[in-house]
Amino acid sequence: MGEGAEKTNREIGCAMVSNKAQDIPPFIVMDVLEKAQELERNGEHIIHLEVGEPDFDTPECINEACYRAIREGKTHYTHSLGLIELREAIAEDYLKKYGVKVSPEQILVASGTSPAMLLLFAALLESGDEVILSNPYYPCYPNIIRFVDGSPVFVKVMEEEGFQYLPEMIEEKLRPRVKGIMINSPSNPTGNLMPAERMREIARFSPFIISDEIYHGLVYEGEVHTILEFTDRAFVINGFSKLYGFL
Ligand SMILES: Cc1ncc(COP(=O)(O)O)c(C=O)c1O
Repeated sequence: MGEGAEKTNREIGCAMVSNKAQDIPPFIVMDVLEKAQELERNGEHIIHLEVGEPDFDTPECINEACYRAIREGKTHYTHSLGLIELREAIAEDYLKKYGVKVSPEQILVASGTSPAMLLLFAALLESGDEVILSNPYYPCYPNIIRFVDGSPVFVKVMEEEGFQYLPEMIEEKLRPRVKGIMINSPSNPTGNLMPAERMREIARFSPFIISDEIYHGLVYEGEVHTILEFTDRAFVINGFSKLYGFL
């Protein structure tokens, strides 16, 4: 085979990957993490500020529970919504923390928040439906929305205004194709914590509210609220990778 005729793995990979998948921009955070890990392998000391991950290890009681579950053979298929005991515990946690009643039947367990988001947007959006996001945003939101043929609509939030995501700014973007309004408090990347009053106002809008509550519990001042205190027309996304350091 002549020089240049041999295809690289990357070229072969690109040829078989759908245009839709190729159109997704890389999640830059992982590129930075991989570069940092490479430097670590070369003996450099790195302080990681790239991935949204706490700097503590997974608590030992969680590790122990995992080892025990595997030893006890709890490695089989579960109910399609996830283990009932886990869904009951999640419902109890939201009741204890926020006083909201959620039935375990309304809870779906996925292998991380990101797959849950993919399922949610796939189930919610018809092609061309819109979802309002504050900008700057967690980069996976628009990627996932676009992947299921939805369209993100951005509301710019400004540093000099404390990155506030205001109901009046959201209202300006409301139009017939808007199916969802995404909120994320505490927010990645801005750290903004949304006060209860503002959540209440946003909850009055007619599109579904999608509330990413994954940074709940990592709050150092102010009070955190779930959207479920203000409306049932909402989908809450939450996970274990931040508060419990458990991927
Ligand atoms: C705002 C936000 N939502 C969701 C996720 C993804 O969480 P998971 O690890 O559960 O997929 C992250 C991860 O950084 C995040 O910052």
